[in-house]
Amino acid sequence: IISTTGLTWSGAAAEVSHKPRVPDSNKGMFGHVLVVGGAKGTAGAAAMASVSALRAGAGLVTAAVPESILPTVARAALELMTVPLVQGKHGEIARVNADPERLKFLIEKITVLAVGPGISQHPETAEFVIELVRQSRLPLVLDADALNIVSKNPELLDGSQRPVIITPHPGEMARLIGGSVKDVQADRENTARNFATRHQVTVVLKGWRTLIAHPNGAVAVNTTGNPGMAKGGSGDILTGIVAAMVAQYARDPAAENVAAAVTAAVYLHGLAADLAVLEQDEHTLLATDTVSHLCNAFRYRS
Ligand code: APR
Ligand code: MG
Repeated sequence: IISTTGLTWSGAAAEVSHKPRVPDSNKGMFGHVLVVGGAKGTAGAAAMASVSALRAGAGLVTAAVPESILPTVARAALELMTVPLVQGKHGEIARVNADPERLKFLIEKITVLAVGPGISQHPETAEFVIELVRQSRLPLVLDADALNIVSKNPELLDGSQRPVIITPHPGEMARLIGGSVKDVQADRENTARNFATRHQVTVVLKGWRTLIAHPNGAVAVNTTGNPGMAKGGSGDILTGIVAAMVAQYARDPAAENVAAAVTAAVYLHGLAADLAVLEQDEHTLLATDTVSHLCNAFRYRS
């Protein structure tokens, strides 16, 4: 169906992707994901990213969200830890959270930072995100409005000496390159590759046949997923899975481990949705149905 010249397939990475749960495993071996997200009205985005990070195998997951939505997010899973963030007038994450002491508290004991689901583009929140990215050295997954904030502050991506994974849909990719969605879609492969090599980040360019472009210029095409995923929440779930997969290798963030983790995350997300749609239907599928089928995706991952 698709030309694979110069591309690799994503399925192979799923074989090596998730860390085996050896008999004497402990949660410290599987990383601690911090999801920073949410605003008034988008608690679900932060909740979905957090729960899917738990399901995808992270040892611990903490959600840092505006205080008024914290009870909602916390209810999404008893396993989830939460940190309240000071919020502004509109229920957005406020600038004061960027205070160096608060930032330090937020990211100590964390393995991977996932920033963006439901975060809004409020200027106060943007300032917080910019400081969080600047002050942290942790592997970073950036999604949704965190990407729109990066589009306005492109220098944030450069020179950070840590794995950075961005998960734009075509609209977000267009803003990142200062072009149109049409430009992006006309040459998805080179758009993703050029951005990945220029900024030394991993680009997950979402949509039908999601592409994963690595900092070395290699591009994998994902073969799983279906149009039932074209519904709000699917992207938030991918963010959580990517963060959890990367967290499991964060002690050894070698390029090939990051590449395998991200590629596998995209593959398993789509596979879970393909399995979920067998029980549901492309119209009725909810993004969260995908999370409940992750177990089968992990089990039958080839
Ligand atoms: N085939 C396969 N996969 C698909 C398809 C399709 N036809 N359509 C969507 N998907 C997958 C994508 O590959 C991606 O993994 O579903 C996910 C959709 O992610 P997003 O586009 O980010 O959507 P989502 O985040 O759920 O909702 C949109 O997010 O980016 C913000 O501000 C944006 O509010 C908006 C919200
Ligand atoms: Mg999204």
